[in-house]
Amino acid sequence: MRYRIVTYGCQMNVHESEKLAGELESMGMTACKDETERADVIVFNTCCIRDNAERRALGNIGVVKAEKKRDPDLIIAVCGCMTQQEGMAEVIKERYPYVDIVLGTRNIFKLPEEIEKVRAARARIKKRSDKRYRAFDTAYPEDYLAADENAPVARTSYPNAWVNIIYGCNNFCTYCIVPYVRGRELSRPMSAVVDEVRRAVDEGYGEITLLGQNVNSYGHDLTGGESFEKLLREVDRIEGKFRVRFMTSHPKDLTDGVIAAMAESDKICSNIHLPVQSGSDKVLKDMNRRYTRDRYFSLIRKLREAMPDIGITTDVMVGFPTESEEDFADTMDLVRRVRFSNAFTFIYSPRKGTPAAAMPQIPYAVKRERIGELIKLQNSVTKELSEDYVGGVFEVLAEDVSPKHEGMLCGRTESGRLATFPGEASRVGEFIKVRVTEARSASLFGVAED
Ligand code: SAH
Ligand code: SF4
Ligand code: F3S
Repeated sequence: MRYRIVTYGCQMNVHESEKLAGELESMGMTACKDETERADVIVFNTCCIRDNAERRALGNIGVVKAEKKRDPDLIIAVCGCMTQQEGMAEVIKERYPYVDIVLGTRNIFKLPEEIEKVRAARARIKKRSDKRYRAFDTAYPEDYLAADENAPVARTSYPNAWVNIIYGCNNFCTYCIVPYVRGRELSRPMSAVVDEVRRAVDEGYGEITLLGQNVNSYGHDLTGGESFEKLLREVDRIEGKFRVRFMTSHPKDLTDGVIAAMAESDKICSNIHLPVQSGSDKVLKDMNRRYTRDRYFSLIRKLREAMPDIGITTDVMVGFPTESEEDFADTMDLVRRVRFSNAFTFIYSPRKGTPAAAMPQIPYAVKRERIGELIKLQNSVTKELSEDYVGGVFEVLAEDVSPKHEGMLCGRTESGRLATFPGEASRVGEFIKVRVTEARSASLFGVAED
């Protein structure tokens, strides 16, 4: 039996696809070698953060209709954030009648039992004794953390291991759908996180990425005084050669203690993803981000004082409903001053059920123009900062063979910069000293020193 998982969205979803794969492998299935190989089960792990993510997922679910027609034994499951939106399970039920299973973000461990039920019902239908079985389960179970602790994981991102530390989000930024589709925050026990990191290190993973919508609020729902700072310090004590990254940090909760833990650690990378969203105090307030641009500047100052080589990346959004030309100019000014090593830029996309979707919207043409300007500015900053690396020697974890350059490997510096250099595929997973000889727009290029 073969399975294929199609993943959309963020790292959280990438990791949840590893858990879905773990469930399927526990049933004795193996992954399809490529997209052309026939699958017995296809799982769509969906995202709904912006309209285009949702349209892409629905489009591809539409495409498998033909495959299902040719192959009636195929089982199709839809999981992930999209299923959890109000009314979406009904939409799938009616418009995509060939979808067999819909599971919400906290029900992925139910996949094997639902597959068995679909199969059993099909076997009975063949004997003309039953109706078709379809599963729709998007409720948040009480025992989610316990079920999650016991669930298998089939990792696909070697040498990086994703490790969840907190699920859900309590922040309700006014543009964002995540709190509605991922429920309230739930921190995993610190011992469970530390054990999982230790196991991954023992298995040879060189990089651990701690995951949460807002890692900085880790522990507030636990009773033993746990915090993200304490967790970082504990993880740093684990023996072995490995590095640690984490995402995402919310500026309102990034403490001096976390900055100190990063700076004082051996293993926590000098690298942070700190989404700013906007450079305008008015827009930040309307977004319910609960920090000001001054507070953001002060965090950047503290991070750079503690770790002069830190790589700082961000998310920026343009076209939020209340964003005027002046507000956008404030964002441009912030981006110019902070000098991010990279920025993920987004056009605001109204999400049904969120407060911002009910406000008067900005014309799309204006949003397009703003994002164009922003991308141009950030590209020039990225290029300038990349040139500072030329001539230096940096430790890079070889993560993969380069998808674009034959005979080359790619990986990242501690600060998070992508580097490409000649090397054998057998060295993936090794830490390699790389002398940077050239900075191109997408990557640094260099040669291995050892
Ligand atoms: N939890 C993370 C973000 C998760 S979503 C955080 O708080 O930083 C990743 C990014 O998508 C966000 O940082 C934001 O920039 C963008 N985003 C979220 N909702 C969006 C929307 N409705 N339209 C456009 N971009 C959005
Ligand atoms: Fe969305 Fe805000 Fe939560 Fe991030 S912190 S997931 S942007 S609501
Ligand atoms: Fe998308 Fe859900 Fe992540 S909406 S961005 S997959 S948390």
